[in-house]
Amino acid sequence: MSAATPILALKAVSQTYRLARQSLFAPRPTLTVLDGIDFDVRAGEAVGLVGESGSGKTTLTRMLTGVERPRGGEVLFDGADVWAMDAPARAGFRRAVQMVLQNPRSSLDPRMRVGTSLLEPLRSLRIGGDHLARIHEVLDQVGLSRSALERFPHEFSGGQLQRIAIARALMPNPRVLIADEPVSALDVSIQAQVLNLLKDLVRDLGLGLVFIAHDLSVVAYTTSRVSVMSSGRIVEVGRPLDLFTAPRAEATQSLVGAVLRVETGLAGNALD
Ligand SMILES: Nc1ncnc2c1ncn2[C@@H]1O[C@H](COP(=O)(O)OP(=O)(O)OP(=O)(O)O)[C@@H](O)[C@H]1O
Ligand SMILES: [Mg+2]
Repeated sequence: MSAATPILALKAVSQTYRLARQSLFAPRPTLTVLDGIDFDVRAGEAVGLVGESGSGKTTLTRMLTGVERPRGGEVLFDGADVWAMDAPARAGFRRAVQMVLQNPRSSLDPRMRVGTSLLEPLRSLRIGGDHLARIHEVLDQVGLSRSALERFPHEFSGGQLQRIAIARALMPNPRVLIADEPVSALDVSIQAQVLNLLKDLVRDLGLGLVFIAHDLSVVAYTTSRVSVMSSGRIVEVGRPLDLFTAPRAEATQSLVGAVLRVETGLAGNALD
């Protein structure tokens, strides 16, 4: 397999949800949440996904992780259809694709010591080997000390907790990390540290990263290629700088406009 083959790819993926009936005898309306999505990520590549709330970003991650089966199209892992795999191949896929969620305070169990939380993915995925050695290796990768293992989530700051959540996602030795708004719950002063950590992991471990955010400038800092979603479609794909300087789709223009309004507002404050 050539280096250019994506680790993960969506081909013409569509998804619809059936909604509640409006009245007793009315047909159930359907909502098209994903419509003909093509998307991929390669080893050592960070790709971004932006779009307004409700555009389908989180639904797209559910396709990439295989927790939900699309109504149409294909989900490919190393070129193989995820929904046609035998059990061992599917287990390999589940290990290889891991999520980092937005809010580590809700994604980590508050009653569990950090060490137990880190072991949990190895248990649930039935991964053998020297678990303690793996924990130490991953703590080094995310820049946490071993003393973290005995402590509980409430003893950590938001930025440290997000490092723990990233460590947990790294435990099964994945090839792709999917980060859905990983810094939007954090103070701006902490965000850059977590973004730099993700960038380092892509470079040092050759991970593929799918980075999702509302904020185009956060995605631009982290990724080399960005897809813009609107109403379940990818309406534009480009390098972050090109999207900033010459946005073509209306959805991209409004995301760029939002960034500029914030920056102008900040500049205005500085002059007061
Ligand atoms: N299980 C479901 N049943 C019905 N509708 C759903 C379901 N899950 C999501 N939706 C709808 O699908 C659309 C896309 O939702 P999704 O969560 O993927 O958007 P998003 O881009 O991640 O938004 P946000 O930026 O707010 O996180 C929304 O209109 C949402 O209400
Ligand atoms: Mg979402």
